[in-house]
This record gives sequence, structure tokens and C-alpha cells, in this order.
Amino acid sequence: MKISSRVITVEKTPVFFGDDSFIALKQLLKSLHISARRVFIFVDRGTKQYCLPVLYEKAGFLQGATVLEIEGGEQSKSLASAENLWSMLLAEGADRNSLLVNLGGGVISDLGGFVAAGFKRGMPYINIPTSLIGQVDASIGGKTAVNLGNIKNQVGFFYAPSGVVIFPGFLKTLPLEHLRSGFAEIVKIALVMDPPLWQRIRKQSVEKLLKMPSESKTWKELLAKAITIKNAIIRDDYREKKLRKGLNFGHTLGHAFEAYFMAGPGKPLLHGEAVAAGMICAAYLSSCKAGLPMSELLEIKEFIASGFSKFKVTEEVKQGIMDLLIHDKKNQQGGNRFVLITKPGHAKINVSCDENEISEALDFYQE
Ligand SMILES: NC(=O)c1ccc[n+]([C@@H]2O[C@H](COP(=O)([O-])OP(=O)(O)OC[C@H]3O[C@@H](n4cnc5c(N)ncnc54)[C@H](O)[C@@H]3O)[C@@H](O)[C@H]2O)c1
Repeated sequence: MKISSRVITVEKTPVFFGDDSFIALKQLLKSLHISARRVFIFVDRGTKQYCLPVLYEKAGFLQGATVLEIEGGEQSKSLASAENLWSMLLAEGADRNSLLVNLGGGVISDLGGFVAAGFKRGMPYINIPTSLIGQVDASIGGKTAVNLGNIKNQVGFFYAPSGVVIFPGFLKTLPLEHLRSGFAEIVKIALVMDPPLWQRIRKQSVEKLLKMPSESKTWKELLAKAITIKNAIIRDDYREKKLRKGLNFGHTLGHAFEAYFMAGPGKPLLHGEAVAAGMICAAYLSSCKAGLPMSELLEIKEFIASGFSKFKVTEEVKQGIMDLLIHDKKNQQGGNRFVLITKPGHAKINVSCDENEISEALDFYQE
């Protein structure tokens, strides 16, 4: 199935989606009066190997650009990496009339956007997301950030890209575990914003879906739907005053899980794996505090558990998570604030939950 390019403008950012989106990229560069020699393409090791050749094939006009590479992974989303990139840009003679092109997943767009916001008080940038998280979530909406130590997204800016170019074909080479991780963000978007999308995905087997080719009709429709919903939210609430906060469903505990396992000796959790576990806990809190019916809670848990492996919540893990919640940036007086759902598709933001309730939610996850 071929998806022809379409464009939605969000906060002056055109978002191009589809198989022809590179044609739009060429026009975008023209409208920004940028020639390839003033373009800096930011990649990590994986996207340099798998996505840069595709970009050159589809957008040959970028062959003369300078490539800036970092190793990649969540640990790279740091102030040290930002400083390193600023130095590279300076050494290569970049200025405010240059353009940064972030070619990669959420780490590349969060870090690259942060770097662009700070470089010489702001240079323009474009996101070309190559992971599923990048395509349905991270590249859209101008939220940029780096982590401080293992605490997620502590320093950052709202700094909108000059354009977002979403080419679904990149997903062909995305490793299965990262496709799975990105699928968690689609589940989140469905659970907080779109009951028909939830009804549609909950009937699928997660494993079967993840094994479908990324160019299949099902995937392209899911992508198009998730991207359209995310765009609509950003258009109505760019500064995250209300509606956009709903997209933090599963993230209060999700970020704590991610941070806890990033600092530990074991294997770190991928962002989406952490968010999946966070959504099970948030669904439990929703049933206690927002009237989510028990049947829906069990269905959500069963669906998510069928697609994501479970980690053990020992007493030590629980304590570590509680300690981390203190740092949660959405923490306000009177307890940790959660996004809950009253039923699928209906979010309730800023619900305060105390330590006992959070502890019960962790027990429910573990059961
Ligand atoms: N700013 C936002 O609104 C927002 C929203 C959601 C998530 N995020 C952030 O996104 C990050 C997670 O993003 P992610 O999961 O994309 O991680 P990531 O950027 O680390 O990418 C995952 C891995 O996949 C590789 N990869 C990417 N595209 C590929 C492709 N097409 N083929 C082969 N390999 C490919 C990368 O090299 C990397 O190793 C987290 O830091 C999270 O906080 C930000």
C-alpha cells in the first residue's frame, strides 16, 4: 500500500507523512533557503548504518551534508553529549543559518532538538524519525530534553522543528524490540485519546502485529492514525497546559522504572517497555480513583502483558521506585500526580496518588 504524502501544520511546523515525504523535504529546504553544504545530519551508530543510506537514496540532494555521529542509546541523552555536539558544530563552521537534521529515534530528536535550541541561541532543525517511537510520538511537538544522570528529561526546551518528515519505510530495519517499545506509545495514544483505535488494537495479537511487515496496510493505517492524533493534540495544546498532559499516561511510573533500571547493574528497560509497565499501574490507579471498570482494567492488563515481558518488583525495586518518584518533575504538593483514565479514550489529568496507592499499583503489576 502506498501512502501519498500529506501535511499537517502544527505550531508552524509542517509534518509530512508518507512514501513521498522526501519530495516535501526538498521543497522545505528550498523554502528555508538552505543548501546541502549548510546541512548537518545527526545520527547514532544504528541510524548511520541503516537509515543514512536510505536517506541518501531518497534524498540525494543531501549527499553534500556533514554527518555528525554519536554512539546512541538512552545514556547518550546527556549534557555531555550535547556539549560534544555543540563543539562538533562549532568546529565544522555551523551557524544560525545552518540546519540540523535529526535522523534517528527519540534519543536523536530529543538530544538534537536540545542542541539546536541552544546552539548560538537557536538554529533551525528538522526531525526525520526512524524508530516507531520517533514516528508516532517523539519527533512531533517540539519537546526537547536531556537526562540529568539517570533522571529523565530534567533539562529541556519547547523548541519546535522547522519540519518533520515521516517515512514509514525506515521501520523495515528497526529491531523487533524497538518496534515493540514503540507499540507501547500507540497503545497509550489509543487508551487516552481514541476509543475506536483501542477497540481496534485490543483485538489483535501483539506478536502477530509486530511480525507484520512495516509496509503492510495495517501498520500504515496505525501509523497514520497515531500521528494524526498526536498532531491534533499538539495543535490544541502545544505548551502542555491540559490536553497534552494526557500523553503522560503510564509515564509517571514509566520514567521511574526506566531510570531505576538504567542505573542498576542489570539490563536497562527500553522506554516503551517501561511505559507499558507504567500503564498497567496507571490503569490500576484509574480503577481505584477514576472509576475505570474492573473488566476494562483486566483487559488492559492482559493485553499489555501479552506483548511485553514482566520484570520483578522486589521490595528493593519498590523502594528504589518510591525514591525516584520524589524527583518526578510532575510532582506537586500533596503527592505524585498521575494521568488516569475513566474509561478507554477518556483521560483525567493531575490526579494525586499517595505512597500506599502507588505501592498497591506495583503489587497489582506483580500479580
Ligand atoms: N519528546 C517527546 O515528546 C518524546 C516522546 C516519546 C519518547 N521520547 C523519548 O524517546 C526516547 C526513546 O526513543 P527510541 O525508542 O526511538 O530510542 P532510540 O532513539 O535510542 O532508538 C532506538 C535504537 O534503534 C536504532 N534505530 C532507530 N531507527 C532505526 C531503524 N530504522 N533501523 C535500525 N535501527 C534503528 C537506533 O540506532 C537505536 O539504537 C526516550 O529518550 C524518550 O524519553 C520523547
